[in-house]
Amino acid sequence: MYVAYMIIRDERHVTEAVLAETGRADDPRLAEIVRALVRHLHDFAREVRLTEAEFDASLGLVARLGQLTTPSHNEVRLMAGTLGLSTLVCLMNNGTEEEPTSANLLGPFWRQGSPVMSNGDSIVRSPTDGPPLFFTGTVVDTAGRPVAGAEIDVWHASPVGLYENQDPDQAEWNLRGKFFTDQRGVFAFRSVRPSGYPIPTTGPVGDLLAALKRHPFRPAHVHAMVYKPGYKTIASQIYSHDDPMLETDAQFGVTGPLIATYQRHEAEPAPDPDVTEPWYSLDYTFVVEPGEAWLPTPPVSAKAGTKDQAGPKADAGADAAINESRLSHTRYFRSVPPVGQQPLPQRPPAGRAEGGPRRRRHWRRRRGRHRCPGRPDHGDRLAARIAAPVEQGGLARAAAADDRHQFPGADRQRHLLQGDRSGFRSLTRLAYLDRRLHADYSAGPGQPG
Ligand SMILES: [Fe+2]
Repeated sequence: MYVAYMIIRDERHVTEAVLAETGRADDPRLAEIVRALVRHLHDFAREVRLTEAEFDASLGLVARLGQLTTPSHNEVRLMAGTLGLSTLVCLMNNGTEEEPTSANLLGPFWRQGSPVMSNGDSIVRSPTDGPPLFFTGTVVDTAGRPVAGAEIDVWHASPVGLYENQDPDQAEWNLRGKFFTDQRGVFAFRSVRPSGYPIPTTGPVGDLLAALKRHPFRPAHVHAMVYKPGYKTIASQIYSHDDPMLETDAQFGVTGPLIATYQRHEAEPAPDPDVTEPWYSLDYTFVVEPGEAWLPTPPVSAKAGTKDQAGPKADAGADAAINESRLSHTRYFRSVPPVGQQPLPQRPPAGRAEGGPRRRRHWRRRRGRHRCPGRPDHGDRLAARIAAPVEQGGLARAAAADDRHQFPGADRQRHLLQGDRSGFRSLTRLAYLDRRLHADYSAGPGQPG
């Protein structure tokens, strides 16, 4: 029944009216959640005195989160992680301060239906460069007893920083697999050591990171989901102990118990006799609590660009844009020529828009060396900075003196990928550079590096 209080008098009254409309819900938990949401949402708008233009922009942002979410990309989950909400919800529901949990945020890259494999099998399904990794996991309950017959879904990014669903160069289900624990609670598989990676930055998440001057990198990790009826399902991530991004993860996922040593072996025989190069081992024990087993909604369900990919036609455009951004990383790491041999920028075809003597002069100059808008000497300074040994502090000094304010966020990342002439070949190296720049940014404007 509706009553006269819904003729809204003022800004306070609108909140009361909306709250009063939650009373008819059959589900008391739903009513509780909606009431709290309305209260906090209205209080938030009041606290920041949200303007109409800001409200308009906010609605556009939320709409874009949905529009960019496709069967092979999940911008909504990415934003939840970027705001720390995924980790908050995980920690509220798993473990305690005295008994830290093995659970971690699910992330936007889990696919349901990984091929079932036998212990010790390799999850490398197409040629994937990188040092071999032998993972041995053990699942125990809170009393330390082995949990046999648990399903373990594992997935991780390739050494170029892409999950198979993002990368047409990888076979479907590459670096993904499902295993079962034996009577000792143990499962094992072979893979390649993963790399850290930048999260996709072409959508609202990237815009937010850029506006906040946050870098987009995650430290290297292996994902695992442990499922067994009678135990609370956990998604977990095992982070590499030596990754430079551990303390500044763009998704706020790293907790102490989830940092593990990726042990390097130089001359010891590997579990598989075909391995002759240095290899890594990683051992980890997952603790599961008694509780209800459940499966989350898969954030993605298909590999980009495959015929399996369902969804509205508009998704294809969004996917193409996202994949173009992600693939720019792949191309970079796979094909950067040695120092001094990078292709020079190509002159655009002559035409009305690009032609004219002024434009041609511009391209002649540009072919001579890398240039940045507003900082004609930046290309040389950037090269000098990158060339200077990091351990001598050259990178930090030049970064502070040079471009702290020139390339915030995603622009800076793009600039590094496109403009650097040093021939970096490893994501870790680029991540390190980005971390140093990030540290300088964090020092604030005008601070010496
Ligand atoms: Fe991940």
